Amino acid sequence: MLASLIFTLLLLTSMEVDAKFKSLHCTVLDHDFGELLLCKLKAISRFRNSISVQYKLKQPISKLFIRLEFFKRANGWRPFLYNFTANLCDFLARNNNVIISIGYAYLSPYLAKNYSCPLKVIENELLECKNFELDINNLRNRFPIETGEYALQLTFIAKNKVGLTINGSIEYNNYREH
Ligand SMILES: *[C@@H]1O[C@H](CO)[C@@H](O)[C@H](O)[C@H]1NC(C)=O
Ligand SMILES: *[C@@H]1O[C@H](CO)[C@@H](O)[C@H](O)[C@H]1NC(C)=O
Ligand SMILES: *[C@@H]1O[C@H](CO)[C@@H](O)[C@H](O)[C@H]1NC(C)=O
Repeated sequence: MLASLIFTLLLLTSMEVDAKFKSLHCTVLDHDFGELLLCKLKAISRFRNSISVQYKLKQPISKLFIRLEFFKRANGWRPFLYNFTANLCDFLARNNNVIISIGYAYLSPYLAKNYSCPLKVIENELLECKNFELDINNLRNRFPIETGEYALQLTFIAKNKVGLTINGSIEYNNYREH
């Protein structure tokens, strides 16, 4: 009796928060830069999924700018909180952008390689993010987000050209708020 009560409580607690990826789009804008090999959203269970992206670079790069645009869905996608463009290395070196620092720490276990600055990405190098799963509890501790749909669009810019955009959305339900 007690055991089943505890079990039910545990189940309810874990069910209160539910978040997973909803969409993933990768768009190659400049084919001279590289080639997209994989851009995939994969279901693990009803409640969990992961994303994988593979991109093969055709040119060496030493400087990469990245634009982050956040959106929240409310009658279509509306800009939300942040929109900025940064030289990745400037921020990683100074460690002064909390979003990029958190994002990089969060993503690095899923990357095929540890990148460091100054960037030295060689021709034909495969950039890969594999089986990246959403860890909503980790995010929620830092950003008190409400139930809803959110999207993040990443734009990769090198040599003053946009090479690739990746945008993904998540659906987040916090049942305690209802
Ligand atoms: C973000 O900023 C860029 C550059 O200023 C702009 O072109 C873009 O439209 C902005 N995005 C959003 C969602 O507001
Ligand atoms: C990257 O660095 C971390 C910490 O130094 C290490 O645990 C991890 O295995 C490294 N990853 C790769 C792909 O080398
Ligand atoms: C993500 O990209 C797709 C395809 O280009 C587009 O339809 C969608 O509106 C984009 N989402 C956001 C939040 O920009």
